[in-house]
Amino acid sequence: MLEERKDHIADLVVVANRLPVRREQGDDGESGDWTVSPGGLVSALAPVVADKKRFAWVGWPGSSEAPLEPFTHDGMRLVPAHLTAEEHELHYEGMSNGTLWPLYHDKIEPAEFHRTWYDGYRRVNRRFADLICDSAAEDATVWVHDYQLQLVPGYVRANRPDLSIGFFLHIPFPPSELFRQIPWREDLTIGLLGADLIGFQTPEGAANFARVAESLDLATRESANLLSRNGRPIEVRSFPIGIDVERYAEGATRPEITAGAVAVRERLGNPRSVLLGVDRLDYTKGIDVRLRAFGELLAEERFAPGEVNLIQVAEPSRGNVDAYVALRERVQGLVGEINGDFARVGVPPVHYIHQSQDFDELMSLYRSADVMMVTPFRDGMNLVAKEWVATRYDDTGVLVLSEFAGAVHELDRALIVNPYDIDGVKEALVRAVLMDPAEAAERMAAMRASVEQNNAVKWAESFLQALAETSGPQAS
Ligand code: G6P
Repeated sequence: MLEERKDHIADLVVVANRLPVRREQGDDGESGDWTVSPGGLVSALAPVVADKKRFAWVGWPGSSEAPLEPFTHDGMRLVPAHLTAEEHELHYEGMSNGTLWPLYHDKIEPAEFHRTWYDGYRRVNRRFADLICDSAAEDATVWVHDYQLQLVPGYVRANRPDLSIGFFLHIPFPPSELFRQIPWREDLTIGLLGADLIGFQTPEGAANFARVAESLDLATRESANLLSRNGRPIEVRSFPIGIDVERYAEGATRPEITAGAVAVRERLGNPRSVLLGVDRLDYTKGIDVRLRAFGELLAEERFAPGEVNLIQVAEPSRGNVDAYVALRERVQGLVGEINGDFARVGVPPVHYIHQSQDFDELMSLYRSADVMMVTPFRDGMNLVAKEWVATRYDDTGVLVLSEFAGAVHELDRALIVNPYDIDGVKEALVRAVLMDPAEAAERMAAMRASVEQNNAVKWAESFLQALAETSGPQAS
């Protein structure tokens, strides 16, 4: 009986590849205290968790050192999933980031298919599923996140049919033609279909998945957003993720942030315009596109060095995966080329920061920028675009946004570009720099309203509400 096992405790179990904490290095070089990593998911869930005392989060603790027992931090029950170094390599670097990530992002880089990677992925998904089954109270709700864990809903359902299971994919779900290339397409689809509710960032993602499930003959379509498998209903819908708007909006008005932004511009020599990009160093983000566009505008003397500067923050990411190593070299090469061609002493046109920024540094950069460049080739949502808009309390600044970012549905008053069209990106950058402040303000006000309306907490609440309705008694 479940009740007899005291570890079946949580009414809500959130499952993501990473735990929402990281371990600081202690003074002695050993692992020190845990601190909460300020991700979107943690802030989205904060109010939900506050009135859910019996809550648990299952995830990888960030290292393959000795297994850790479940522990409580900041009121959250954390259940670490222990992975050996080899499992981490096969599951995370291999199948997750060498196969699924590129394939789900339109194969901007080739996706590799290796049976050993998939075996590791299966093993790790199984481990997460076992931890969930051990942590969840009878009839509890389980919310599984992202592409690293697509087999988990199926595994959990097989062991614990009493649970309500939701799954949310943070990245795009690809068109059927791409997805069907995966040798394990049936397994992955069946895994996802183990959920009662499958959420996507956009309606296209939801439609792509429904088409895949139908075309592989693994589910029947009941209506636009409803599939069924073996008579069990499965809702498939979009839930565009939001941000913690207050954190960014309030942060932006703090005097030290304003002073920080002024200092950034001073250090740049008070140029007429500051262009900013902030991304993980990832080949999906189109960092090279904007560098090339900027370099050409300098070469054509449409931008003058010293008058228009570009700051690119590229947070180190997935540095053990080959495609990321190659991207780093490509980006560094482009930055070096542009600065070599156009710098004067003390005035390099590109400032490239391959480091992660703390919140205040990021806010100062956000506030220092006139133009924000978000030009991914493909992106599930892109929260940087929303964060930046949230900091424009004075309705200044222009967002240049790729039509292939999920955020374009809500931020449709940005200057929208096709990142494959360098000339189009160049025109948009010139237009952004020259835009009349009244037009910029009108566009920004509309975008700010949209970001404020759909914040992270509403996103989490609407998903959990839909899950309760889908898997509740009225649905069966
Ligand atoms: C994307 C993914 C997340 C992932 C994050 C950071 O946003 O959707 O699942 O956690 O990138 O990547 P990392 O590989 O460092 O976890």
